[in-house]
Amino acid sequence: MSATILVLNGPNLNLLGTREPSIYGAETLADVEARLAARGRDRGVGIDFRQSNHEGELVTWIQEARDRAAAIIINAGAYTHTSVAIHDALRAAGLPVWEVHVSNVYRRETFRHHSYISGIAEGVIAGFGTRGYDAALDAAVARLAAPPPS
Ligand code: DQA
Repeated sequence: MSATILVLNGPNLNLLGTREPSIYGAETLADVEARLAARGRDRGVGIDFRQSNHEGELVTWIQEARDRAAAIIINAGAYTHTSVAIHDALRAAGLPVWEVHVSNVYRRETFRHHSYISGIAEGVIAGFGTRGYDAALDAAVARLAAPPPS
């Protein structure tokens, strides 16, 4: 069976395409999901793509990923900057994590400069628009094909 990569999206990312398009672009989350599903198929991995506005639901999905997924790509939205619970769940899952932000959070308000996820992520991609998800997927696939020496 092929590996599954869990792609998690936090609050307000369901509004992608209509929310502040000058910052987040015109593509919808459904567009991103379709593109990643096709990219995953090409690369021989399954994509489990989800979005929630609820912190606890994201935590539950991360907990479940332990048994269901080989890696996690996460854009936690505003919870990136606030959620110790998501940080703890990601640590407990013990899976490689890539953090994605559509916008360049470092060019924006200072409250967006701190992330509870970056310190435990394999990589962080910010400011490449929705193409950041594609880059994270390719990084995860490469890492699953050739895990680093322990
Ligand atoms: C975001 C950046 C966050 O600061 C913000 O709260 C979001 C989206 C991004 O993708 O650029 O909701 O994660």
